[in-house]
Amino acid sequence: MKKVLRWSVCGLFVMGIFSVAYAQFAKPEEAIGYRKSAMTLIGYHFSRIGAVVQGKAPFDKAAVAKDAELVAKIATLPWEAFMTPGAEKGQTHLKAEALKDKEGFKAAADATVAETAKLSQVAAAGDLDAIKTQFGAAGKSCKGCHEKYRTH
Ligand code: HEC
Repeated sequence: MKKVLRWSVCGLFVMGIFSVAYAQFAKPEEAIGYRKSAMTLIGYHFSRIGAVVQGKAPFDKAAVAKDAELVAKIATLPWEAFMTPGAEKGQTHLKAEALKDKEGFKAAADATVAETAKLSQVAAAGDLDAIKTQFGAAGKSCKGCHEKYRTH
């Protein structure tokens, strides 16, 4: 029991550090730059899997597994950067409504985090049909948010 408590305190501490790290955007431009960079990387690795799924690139199990792992990891990063006050203005395609609908935005982000984590698992197992199905589910989660909260 004591041990469990110690671990949960430790967990809270780690989460504390992360939320501080997330909150450290001194300027809205920094938050915008951060999230765009993360999205660009997600898009890059995700579309590499897409090329395999569409038969435009050969199926290299290890490469797909690596890309899926990266997508899943990076997909955990950028969401706080979307909620930074003032960061709905400037060089961004984020709709201002997103900041008024934080719950909805978070739900959309959570869906992508979950679906890309699943894609990473499926890709590690290496079955192309399963990868295709899960790639579709993950892609749907991206689109769901883009349609609602991105200007185009
Ligand atoms: C919860 C919402 C949300 C989810 C989920 C999401 N995106 Fe995005 N994405 C955005 C928004 C908003 C922008 C516009 C960012 C900006 O301009 O500040 C964006 C931008 C992008 C961009 C353009 C980057 C740039 O330089 O402007 C790419 C590529 C992208 N997303 C890919 C993806 C992929 C692939 C997924 C799924 C694996 C995904 N996104 C999931 C909200 C989301």
